[in-house]
Amino acid sequence: MTKKLRSYDWFGKSDKMGFVHRSWLRNQGYPDDYFQGKPVIGICNTWSELTPCNGHLRDFAEIVKRGVREAGGFPLEFPVTSLGETIMRPTTMLFRNLASMDVEESIRANPIDGVVLLTGCDKTTPSTVMGACSVDLPTIVVPGGPMLNGRFRGECLGSGSFNWMIKEKRSVENYTDEDIREAEIGSARSQGHCMSMGTASTMACMVEALGLTLPGAAAIPAVDARKKVMAHLSGRRIVEMVNEDLKLSKILTRKAFENATVINAGVGGSTNFLIHMLAIAGRIGVELNLEDFDTIGSKIPLLANLKPSGKYLMEDFYYAGGLPVVIHELKKYLHTDAITVNGKTIGDNNINPPCYNREVIASADNPLQHEAGIAVLKGNLCEKGAIIKPSAASKELMKHRGRAVVFESMDDYHARIDDPNLDIDETCVIVLKQVGPVGYPGMPEVGNVDLPEKLLQKGIRDMVRISDGRMSGTAGGTVVLHISPESAIGGTLALVKDGDMIELDIEKRRLHLDVSDEELQKRKAAWTPPPRATDRGYVKFYIDHVQQADLGCDLDLLRGGSGAEVKGDLH
Ligand code: FES
Repeated sequence: MTKKLRSYDWFGKSDKMGFVHRSWLRNQGYPDDYFQGKPVIGICNTWSELTPCNGHLRDFAEIVKRGVREAGGFPLEFPVTSLGETIMRPTTMLFRNLASMDVEESIRANPIDGVVLLTGCDKTTPSTVMGACSVDLPTIVVPGGPMLNGRFRGECLGSGSFNWMIKEKRSVENYTDEDIREAEIGSARSQGHCMSMGTASTMACMVEALGLTLPGAAAIPAVDARKKVMAHLSGRRIVEMVNEDLKLSKILTRKAFENATVINAGVGGSTNFLIHMLAIAGRIGVELNLEDFDTIGSKIPLLANLKPSGKYLMEDFYYAGGLPVVIHELKKYLHTDAITVNGKTIGDNNINPPCYNREVIASADNPLQHEAGIAVLKGNLCEKGAIIKPSAASKELMKHRGRAVVFESMDDYHARIDDPNLDIDETCVIVLKQVGPVGYPGMPEVGNVDLPEKLLQKGIRDMVRISDGRMSGTAGGTVVLHISPESAIGGTLALVKDGDMIELDIEKRRLHLDVSDEELQKRKAAWTPPPRATDRGYVKFYIDHVQQADLGCDLDLLRGGSGAEVKGDLH
């Protein structure tokens, strides 16, 4: 057996432990040659019936195995914690780091030489990549692909475009329960993840832009036969990557992160991109900070006309040419020499791909918007930063001064937002506290809270909303997110009171609470931290160790990696 394979330490020896490691696995019926030098490929599967977006990945694992076997590898599939965005409470973000620990330890503890990550729903991509980074073996990602376009009453319906409007649909357009039920099934009519440029599609584009997938993988719909071809070819390729020792750390360089930041701006990706990129960079040891996203990404033209900021959906994006077209169009902003999993550079992988629909993917010379990306705000209200997606904001609110209407928690918000006596109008700034990583806990996607019923009735569709929470990639509005430090640990956000004036100036990257330093000091001295959500189990562990949004919300003790070496054996 080839000594250089990591799996040799399990299967290659003729001693007692070699016998134990091989013998029990033989109960699956593997012949001798499977233990004699074939690279062992771990297929890390986030399939779960409780993660609807990943429901097809059990079949995909079998397709990947075909490719692995053809290339001379030995595929072994293993399950990891799966995170279903629309099902799990209080929020999958609370469990992203837990899932990453599962992935990391499962890879390291087993006789694995290379890894295929089967991903789909929002957090299943960053959690698996984070875990894999902390081990740093040759790794390839197979993104599960978006659903087909939603269809409802003759129109295209994007994931998330309807649910954020239900309150409005009921109160303004008199939608009935039956109308809503029809939209429910029309929104999700095939296997796959959300098909707008929400977080799952953003994550799929992110891994392709980082160089972790075969070229063109991100946008292929889950049910398109070409997705299966891509999975099959990824199975073949990972075996070659093991032979070439093409590890994650060779691909995930600073250049790769800069490329992904540019491409995220070009496709109008989700704000969640920042948090996950920061966490992944922290695991692989690449210096990346919040300001980098603004410096590198905010002057990039927007090319993809995709919901929620645009008109089309991922299926249209794929038919128009997909991510290769965006990469090619943006090549002057990219490090085209960054290496990818197929061993070629991102430049070489994307030479002149045809664009079949310029309505869906604009050219860099004639973009949808000249400057996209995500703006990083600073000010006394967010000393370590906050973010906003200007392409999703209302033009007239991009510079705004308004009176704060403060909600101390989500419960407080739900209890009072539709109170007819609430003193609020469209010029106010809705301030939401206690929705950060520690406070909620888990930093849920609630930053784009619904407007008060009485303002919806008046025809108001957007207001400035600020919080320490996140926002779904499928949502929009003039919404300031990820305020850091968060309110639960005594950030200035905790000190805001009803009636304070707040200034937002996106162009100047400023978020300011117009209260004197003296008064803020007084409020700070009188502030007491809210009680913690729990004092036991994983959630306590999470609260004790989670970092703030400007660092990616990873647990402090998970940053970096421990490599692939494992000491000791079971006997
Ligand atoms: Fe799974 Fe949107 S809910 S991707």
